[in-house]
Amino acid sequence: MLIRAATFFQESNMSGPSITIPALQQKKTAGERITMLTCYDATFARLLDRAEVDALLVGDSLGMVVQGHENTLPVTLDEIIYHCRAVARGSSHAHIVADLPFMTYQTSPEQAVDNAGRLLKDGGAHAVKMEGGASIREQIRRCSEAGIPVMGHLGLTPQSVHKMGGHKVQGKNRIQAEKILTEARMVEEAGAYSLVLEGVPEALGQLITEELSIPTIGIGAGRYTDGQVLVIYDLLGMDPDFQPRFVRRYMELGDQIVDAAKAYCDDVKHGHFPNDHEVFLKTG
Ligand code: KIV
Repeated sequence: MLIRAATFFQESNMSGPSITIPALQQKKTAGERITMLTCYDATFARLLDRAEVDALLVGDSLGMVVQGHENTLPVTLDEIIYHCRAVARGSSHAHIVADLPFMTYQTSPEQAVDNAGRLLKDGGAHAVKMEGGASIREQIRRCSEAGIPVMGHLGLTPQSVHKMGGHKVQGKNRIQAEKILTEARMVEEAGAYSLVLEGVPEALGQLITEELSIPTIGIGAGRYTDGQVLVIYDLLGMDPDFQPRFVRRYMELGDQIVDAAKAYCDDVKHGHFPNDHEVFLKTG
């Protein structure tokens, strides 16, 4: 009877993503690296599912790469929900994490639970991400207790761009590094299931990864975190002028898009598009 019940529960769990939080934790235990990329729409979500990317982050980086802002601060909760719904429609494989934007969780644990809940209920996210340590400890705890999985984010936290004096590597001196390590332990203790480490020296990324039992996911945090995340537009080379040290460009899609658009304009101007295979001919 027990075996039949276990089979039933496994078989009936077909509608969720294939990559679950226990599966991510298992990857850390097995020493298997976790892959995560940002994603902002259904078309990319479908493609990234085909590439079997473990986790998709509907990051507030969309404020910069999609909306053209200088930083992530203007992004609203409704905008993240809009993009998250599109990603959730396109993906059936990946674990989907949505960013809580600036000032949608910092004020109080109640605010955090309400807004994080909307990302799951209205956005279709499987988890939320929030930036910070000691100051949002209660927010992490209360969301986790409410059944909302929280991914932490420490180091270079873009929502604190003005406090940091720019998008700068953090934890370079001993005092700063110890603070980040202490806050990483705090984030885990408060109930986070994973932690993004951004813009920290490799040795600090490694130390935190060894100290924590939850998976760490690095961006500009060196080679030894449990996983890596990049902004998809950076990996694709969409902006030829953006080449920070921590990004590897796997193609120059920005240049290819310009070339394709130029070729199209040329064809239209010279009457080469559409040709006789690309028109609807009169029938009968
Ligand atoms: O918003 C985002 O894309 C992020 C990643 C850079 C981790 O937070």
